[in-house]
Amino acid sequence: MKFFIDTADIDDIRDLASTGLLDGVTTNPSLIKKAGKDFIPLIAEICDVVDGPVSAEVAATDFDTMLKEAHKLRAIADNVAVKVPLTPDGLKVCKSLSDEGTQVNVTLCFSAAQAILAAKAGAAFISPFVGRLDDIGADGMHLIAEICTIYDNYPDFDTEVLVASIRSPMHIVEAAKMGAHVITSPPDVIRKLYSHPLTDKGLAAFVEDWAKTGQSIL
Ligand code: G3P
Repeated sequence: MKFFIDTADIDDIRDLASTGLLDGVTTNPSLIKKAGKDFIPLIAEICDVVDGPVSAEVAATDFDTMLKEAHKLRAIADNVAVKVPLTPDGLKVCKSLSDEGTQVNVTLCFSAAQAILAAKAGAAFISPFVGRLDDIGADGMHLIAEICTIYDNYPDFDTEVLVASIRSPMHIVEAAKMGAHVITSPPDVIRKLYSHPLTDKGLAAFVEDWAKTGQSIL
């Protein structure tokens, strides 16, 4: 399972990249706004820090402008994955870029039907938003199960399921159980994966007992 971080905060990206566990980054216009930096140089900076795919999203919604923006974005670095919305024009851009060999992340997926279309359009990644479905009383993880099953039925689909809009560690655990290829998580949720009170309690006891031995390993 690949771990992507869903942020444009370069400090968080550097910090999590230093763990050696980070496989990529996803950004979106809202995250760019939150970062408060210029988009193109920021994506270039992120691409320098992380070797894996860095999703940079187009801003336009019509085919011609999205395609022009996509060409500019993919020129930033070899590891840019162009992110397009799951709309008819977005999927046309996806097909065109995929045919040219550019990695495309199709975002704002909320149904299995949409995920089938993205795979047929050659997307490298489909991004179903689980948290936003949960927010409206639907079951986000049920959608992930559906998409994993459908993609498994068609080995010629190369599209990876990228679980997005993650709210809690359990979303990540459930995604792993379902065999989703990738999760993209806010930094705080990734950090929560490390935590267990029994780990903290056990370590405190080991540290205390070790000190009482009066020994040193080094
Ligand atoms: O980047 C796409 C997705 O992960 C957004 O998540 O928290 O804004 O629903 P969220």
